[in-house]
Amino acid sequence: MEFKIAVLGGDGIGPEVTAEAVRVLEAIGRKRGHTFQFSEAPVGGNAIDRYGMALPQETVRLAKQSDAVLFGAVGGPKWDDPRAKVRPEDGILGIRKALGLFANLRPVKVSPQLMEASPLKPSLLQGVDIVVVRELTGGLYFAKPKKRWETARGRRAVDTLRYTEQEVRRVMRVGFTLAQGRKNRVTSVDKANVLESSRLWREVAMETAKEFPGVVMDNMLVDTAAMQLVRSPARFDVIVTENMFGDILTDEAAVLVGSMGMLPSASLAGIPQAGQRAMGLYEPIHGTAPDIAGKGIANPLGAILSAALLLRYSLSLEAEARTIELAVDKVLADGYRSPDIARPGERTLQTREMADLVIGLL
Ligand code: IPM
Ligand code: MG
Repeated sequence: MEFKIAVLGGDGIGPEVTAEAVRVLEAIGRKRGHTFQFSEAPVGGNAIDRYGMALPQETVRLAKQSDAVLFGAVGGPKWDDPRAKVRPEDGILGIRKALGLFANLRPVKVSPQLMEASPLKPSLLQGVDIVVVRELTGGLYFAKPKKRWETARGRRAVDTLRYTEQEVRRVMRVGFTLAQGRKNRVTSVDKANVLESSRLWREVAMETAKEFPGVVMDNMLVDTAAMQLVRSPARFDVIVTENMFGDILTDEAAVLVGSMGMLPSASLAGIPQAGQRAMGLYEPIHGTAPDIAGKGIANPLGAILSAALLLRYSLSLEAEARTIELAVDKVLADGYRSPDIARPGERTLQTREMADLVIGLL
């Protein structure tokens, strides 16, 4: 089969790790008889430098014409001025919104090989296998008013935390659907003891639970969830939460696997039916890591595992996705490490070398 993939590498280590994910896709394509047509487009800080905007129209158009988007990362100190009119982050936020990708899946699975890389005790990490479903196109990130202004009594700013019941329901359904193929448990995370939007969230979560009688749901306050994630992470199966809480909790969850460099994500407009294709955007959850950009030492596994999710969710190629995931597991089991997951004194491999090992196992 033939597929069109938009490649938006972005800034910092984004293009480096994305290039390795592309090579892995090409390799699996050769093995299984699929052709990928890759088209690159600018996004983020480099797009600001060249076009004065973080998300050129052309980039959105290319993405919309593609079967899926492979994304790197955006941002960097060069564009960090808080008073700047345009920001690299507008690139990723804008494309999530433009493509209607309201559900962000962030799987967090601790492999036995990497327990050493985590600051948590191995006893706590045993059996950790979580998917965080983060609402991605609503809440504080997008709702209006969102602005900053001057008054006689000083500067003011506002962001708005607004949700409609439809926005909550559709992302809850994604979480419940995923749970059905897993351990049948959903934890809906909110701040219902304080926030009105969270009280709506919780109400809709409980309504949605009735549609999925086989799935057990509990509600948890976000502060408790932050604590439980490091105290007993193995208790979770699927976590569903609003945009901002999800942003924060997924960085915390990344600590469980030892490095941000390992974690992939998929942004979708719902879970496709078996055998169906659906547009999605796939990105490692790590950032642009300006300190190591250009050195060829970034961990490409988060990007490579994102490519696996792309095969699974957008192209309905489950077997190919599994092959890549198993190859990554094997590389780690064989003791190969990029600097971010190595123990002191351990030999480390370059970005390209790590990807070559994965490719060699496909
Ligand atoms: C993430 C990132 C982004 C977000 C930034 C880069 C805008 O932190 O994907 O988690 O906050 O969503
Ligand atoms: Mg984040």
